[in-house]
Amino acid sequence: MVTKDTSGKYDKYVISSDEMQVSVITLSAAVTDILFKGKHCALGFDSVEDYDDNPGYVGLVVGRYANRIGGAKFTLEGKEYKLVPNEGKNQLHGGPDSWVKRVWQAEVLSDNVVRFSVFAPDGENGFPGNMNASVTYTVTGSTLRLDFEGETDAPTVFAPTTHMYFNPKGGSVLESSMKINASSWLQVDDELIPTGVLMPCEGNFDFSSLRRIAKDYDHCFVLDSQDACTAECGDVKISLKTDLPAMQFYTGTHLGEPFGANGGFAIEPEFYPDSPNHPEWPSPVLRPGEKFRCFAEYIFE
Ligand code: BGC
Repeated sequence: MVTKDTSGKYDKYVISSDEMQVSVITLSAAVTDILFKGKHCALGFDSVEDYDDNPGYVGLVVGRYANRIGGAKFTLEGKEYKLVPNEGKNQLHGGPDSWVKRVWQAEVLSDNVVRFSVFAPDGENGFPGNMNASVTYTVTGSTLRLDFEGETDAPTVFAPTTHMYFNPKGGSVLESSMKINASSWLQVDDELIPTGVLMPCEGNFDFSSLRRIAKDYDHCFVLDSQDACTAECGDVKISLKTDLPAMQFYTGTHLGEPFGANGGFAIEPEFYPDSPNHPEWPSPVLRPGEKFRCFAEYIFE
């Protein structure tokens, strides 16, 4: 079932199955709540207006390029593109005033499917290409599936993700447990820009079996399989499946009020950060005539 609430500044769609209810608003197609067996599993602000001031990107669909692009520039087909930086000299999550500040167009496709679409103009924050992008949310049983799509009229880079944070248990997420199917992670410099070195998942980065998170992470893991990770948070398990090549694991270190530091963790399926500057990595390049497609499934148990 899909219901629509138009009483706030942004319309809210609630997509329900027998087992869960997912609330999404039209601002950046943000997930504001996931209610599974009586537990609120995802972080969300109390009112839709609160999303106007959301430096932690809570719940948002971020893009055009999720995560960081070093020096806010890249070269594509021999041409250098200068992006608008929004974190020192680098760009994070598509830059300032990107589509995360915009109202997306919602379309109810069936009784458990809603698509949200946005237009990103050529030159926005420095990116080439007029783009149409969308995310389609499907709620089936205890699974929330996101299908991302995108098309461009000029060669560009495209790498969206979802910035939901989870914490069904409450308290610090460092007490929850995590398993990640990755054998390497990306080394970063002190501005969190990848150095180009892939590090083996050993020691603190070994999540090959479920174990307490224990410390802060804000790192990109290179996935070995579509079964990206499983988190155990009290009596709720959350697993992520995706066809994207990597996943940022962020323990919400800088989350502000009302959530607080470590008040939620994000498991963001994505291309490698800064991959427009690393031709040796999976390519985020999208060309006219191509249709970008990727998916992320969050399964609750
Ligand atoms: C990044 C963090 C950043 C957070 C909020 C995450 O995807 O990895 O470094 O603080 O988003 O912007």
